[in-house]
Amino acid sequence: MPREVKTKIAILISGRGSNMLALADAVSEGRVSEAEITIVISDQANAAGLAHAQSRNLKTIEVERRGRSRDEHDRELVAVLQEHQIDFVCLAGYMRLLSAHFLSAYQNRILNIHPSLLPAFPGLDAQKQALEHGVKFSGCTVHFIDEILDGGPIIAQRIVPVLDDDTEETLAARILEEEHKLYSEALALVASGAYEIVGRRVVRK
Ligand code: GRF
Repeated sequence: MPREVKTKIAILISGRGSNMLALADAVSEGRVSEAEITIVISDQANAAGLAHAQSRNLKTIEVERRGRSRDEHDRELVAVLQEHQIDFVCLAGYMRLLSAHFLSAYQNRILNIHPSLLPAFPGLDAQKQALEHGVKFSGCTVHFIDEILDGGPIIAQRIVPVLDDDTEETLAARILEEEHKLYSEALALVASGAYEIVGRRVVRK
């Protein structure tokens, strides 16, 4: 029987928000039955994802950077998250590093999706890095955020092949399709609480 009290999720975006929509669909279709998407927050007022979120009747909030320091901006973000009693934060194309204050307020409660098989190709342009390196397989990773860029404990990964005629765009599109499935599977695990973090390993309980 589903639990009555849902795990409250905030999704942070900066851009088009396709992973945010995939998560919203997974929740509304009952594939992440123990979670609710409480808010979608963007640091960019013009993020295309905001309109998509509103079209799904999700509550949206803009917490704009407005030239503020990372710390000032994150203090406002954390206040909004706490006001909404958010349990877990999902970064979905959120293009800003997090401050120490944010990390400590939500330690092991912030998830991110990255378009490579971490620890390979962290940072920007992961698909370009994969092509330039010549790997035959890449993929995507959902991980907890810690103080190391794209370096926290790995929750789930999925592999995709790199084809000889791939461009950055075709590879990114193949990876994105898998991202949309992987993120909701990872969120379902986290929202269920049926895992523990042992050293760097996220293992099922
Ligand atoms: C995705 O490729 C994600 O892995 C990366 O940024 C992109 C965001 O895409 N972190 P979208 O905004 O979810 O469509």
